[in-house]
Amino acid sequence: MENKNITIGLFGFGCVGQGLYDVLNHSEGLKASIEKICVRDKNKKRKIDPSFFTFDKDDILKRDNLNVIVELIDNADEAFAIVRDAMNNGVSVVSANKKMLAENFKELYQLQEKNNVALIYEGSAGGSIPIIRNLEEYYDNELLSSVRGILNGTCNYILTRMELENKDYIEILKDAQLSGFAESDPWLDVAGFDTKYKTLLLTIHAFGVVLNPDDIFNTGIQNISYDDILYAKQRGLRIKMLGVSFKAGDKFRVYTLPHFVDRESELFNVVYEYNAVEVEGAYSCKQTFVGKGAGSHPTGSAVLSDISALTYDYKYGYKKLKKALSANAKIEDGAKQIEYDFSIRLYIRFQNKEELKDLEILSIEEEHRSSTTNYIIAYVNFNSLFNIYNKKDNKLFVCAY
Ligand SMILES: NC(=O)c1ccc[n+]([C@@H]2O[C@H](COP(=O)([O-])OP(=O)(O)OC[C@H]3O[C@@H](n4cnc5c(N)ncnc54)[C@H](OP(=O)(O)O)[C@@H]3O)[C@@H](O)[C@H]2O)c1
Repeated sequence: MENKNITIGLFGFGCVGQGLYDVLNHSEGLKASIEKICVRDKNKKRKIDPSFFTFDKDDILKRDNLNVIVELIDNADEAFAIVRDAMNNGVSVVSANKKMLAENFKELYQLQEKNNVALIYEGSAGGSIPIIRNLEEYYDNELLSSVRGILNGTCNYILTRMELENKDYIEILKDAQLSGFAESDPWLDVAGFDTKYKTLLLTIHAFGVVLNPDDIFNTGIQNISYDDILYAKQRGLRIKMLGVSFKAGDKFRVYTLPHFVDRESELFNVVYEYNAVEVEGAYSCKQTFVGKGAGSHPTGSAVLSDISALTYDYKYGYKKLKKALSANAKIEDGAKQIEYDFSIRLYIRFQNKEELKDLEILSIEEEHRSSTTNYIIAYVNFNSLFNIYNKKDNKLFVCAY
């Protein structure tokens, strides 16, 4: 196998772009160099020589000496336009942009096929954890039954601090924003969208099923209170924000929800900004990957590993997806393989019972009302959760039991 020299055109020099620059400079043995970096803000002070930078995307896209475009910008629509143009120009792409990848996966898959180029994105799910290539290659022939994980560092950081410091959500969120662990607009993270995009990508590589983001229900910790943390603590449990994707008969269940986990679970001790992915197969049994889920250098190292893979002409084989497609499945029919009509056991905290009217509650196991907190433990028709999907005025806190 030939180990090629790689010349990189980089988009974005923020948290991950700078992390990549650092790890590339400290890596031995990889023959790769950044030739040009496209950024947006002409007035921003940069920590490296100004001659590296351009503000015109064509200055990179129209160069013909680049082997790879690395896309690390924070805008999903602009990122998609860059990635699409690069692939149509016959150049392979590395990206860490889970939102862009999840929202445009079908077209991105077709662009790879049409142009015979690689698009690889290990940094997009689980940060530094090498999970996508493992699902794609290592678990190639394994009868996987489940993939689930703590995939959002912001949520895990907030949950950990709420529990260890006995503090409420708003206080910890504000502090997390000040210390760079949460965005100024935290909605995509705390409401579970980021976890969902990653779960969507893991589902493609674990099971060969392609979904649209709206096919996957998500809610997060946006309505959590210290009462919920206390409830868990008193029972020896922890609340973890999980993306789950697992086989249920001949269908799959895929969703993103806070979950109670007990001490027996490997996920129990995954704290602060760490992420973890638990993979379960018929023969390999349960295996857990743990690592930093975000951050400049951890994510930069995943991106570097993708660049390194390109030196050996690596591309995702999408073997499971291709197998499904060759058996006459259509890529756009992924949602038909998902089960929505099932009963799920939930802890639901509410202020007044009127808030529960949108949920199809099948049976209530326990009901608690006090001057400070009201909750039920109930079986709910999963489908009815979509009635509270992405509603910012909904104040229920829902946690899978
Ligand atoms: N941060 C993490 O820990 C992490 C982890 C995993 C994945 N990711 C993903 O990695 C990507 C980058 O995240 P980040 O945290 O590094 O973002 P960031 O710190 O906000 O940096 C974004 C960079 O993109 C540049 N940019 C924005 N729009 C552009 C455009 N149209 N053309 C050229 N450059 C543009 C910005 O330019 P200026 O410098 O001029 O403002 C900036 O350098 C995102 O998709 C994110 O979801 C991040």
